[in-house]
Amino acid sequence: MLVNRGIIDEQKNQIIYSHKDMKYLPVSNDSIKQAAEILLAGGLVAFPTETVYGLGADAYNAEALAKIFEVKERPRFDPLIVHIASIETLEDVADMSLVEKETREKLFALAENLWPGPLSIVLPKNKKIPGIATAGLATAAIRFPDHEAAQQLIKLSTGAIAAPSANRFGSLSPTRAEHVRDTLGDKIDLVLDGGPTRVGLESTVLDITGGTLKILRHGGTTKEAIENLIGRIQDEFVSEDDCNGGMLSPGQLKSHYAPKTPLCVMTQEIITNLIYEKDSAFLFFSAESREKWEKALKPPKSAVFRVLSESGNLIEAASRLFETLHELDKCSLLQIFVEYAPQIGLGEAINDRLRRASS
Ligand code: TXA
Ligand code: MG
Repeated sequence: MLVNRGIIDEQKNQIIYSHKDMKYLPVSNDSIKQAAEILLAGGLVAFPTETVYGLGADAYNAEALAKIFEVKERPRFDPLIVHIASIETLEDVADMSLVEKETREKLFALAENLWPGPLSIVLPKNKKIPGIATAGLATAAIRFPDHEAAQQLIKLSTGAIAAPSANRFGSLSPTRAEHVRDTLGDKIDLVLDGGPTRVGLESTVLDITGGTLKILRHGGTTKEAIENLIGRIQDEFVSEDDCNGGMLSPGQLKSHYAPKTPLCVMTQEIITNLIYEKDSAFLFFSAESREKWEKALKPPKSAVFRVLSESGNLIEAASRLFETLHELDKCSLLQIFVEYAPQIGLGEAINDRLRRASS
């Protein structure tokens, strides 16, 4: 059933929207069923996961997959993540005959301990998955999300949903259904609203296909959690030095996950000595940094600043990062100054996103 734009759902005291043809529905058995029907018919559905909202299509339907690239304005060379809803269905999307015994053991150690969860594992793809899903690669990144509505949706459709984050290519990932509605809303068939996402950062992407194990993207599963299960792994992108040198020179890095407002990421030492300027925002990692800054620089009452986690908790900081950047991005500011998180645990993923978001 379609609801009218701007109607208030009195029970939940929230506004439910519906664009011209797009449906925007809270998660329920009924809306998930509708969503599955749309996917089976080749449509696009935005749905919540524990990390960020995904823009889903049937992973076996090449035409539906092509629509994802169009809507996201995503280059065709960037492969999608294939979502499944049980370890038993892994063989439907991966070609396990190409996985050697040693790698297989590592894979199952990971899957049994970290799935469902924010970990995407790159494996040889099953031939049934069209090449467009994996941008022509012989491998696919596969993930079993830790979110009940997502799992139900996957099970009710074909058992495999290919989904990138439901944002325009290069911009901030959506942690709320409203973020999807405001950017892609009129281009997709249904947005399922499951409230704010729990983890708030995308999954970690781990390649176990080569001889060596590599993290291709830091995310919601820490390197430590993976190494505890399968031993030492390589880091594809992050060099530890990146975080020690203060401000990074702009333009050096591949831009991604970026707000529209120019963002500059820096160490605690630099940010806590930065004089407040009008039309800028300060985003501190913890209360400790904010207090240092307030004490030293005595910013005016009108200063715009936020703290990712008062107590300096990395899990809380990760869950609030995109959320806070979305919020600050709406404030018509000239710049956002952000402090690095400590480079441990989820801090690696937070800092990776900040580096790529910096202009
Ligand atoms: O948490 C997440 O991972 C979210 C939710 C929706 O599941 N999805 C997500 O998808 O972040 P996306 O498309 O925004 O990011 C997928 C990342 C990209 O960096 C892509 O290059 C990488 O995974 N990737 C996908 N397939 C790959 C493959 N076969 N080999 C190497 N990297 C791959
Ligand atoms: Mg993305």
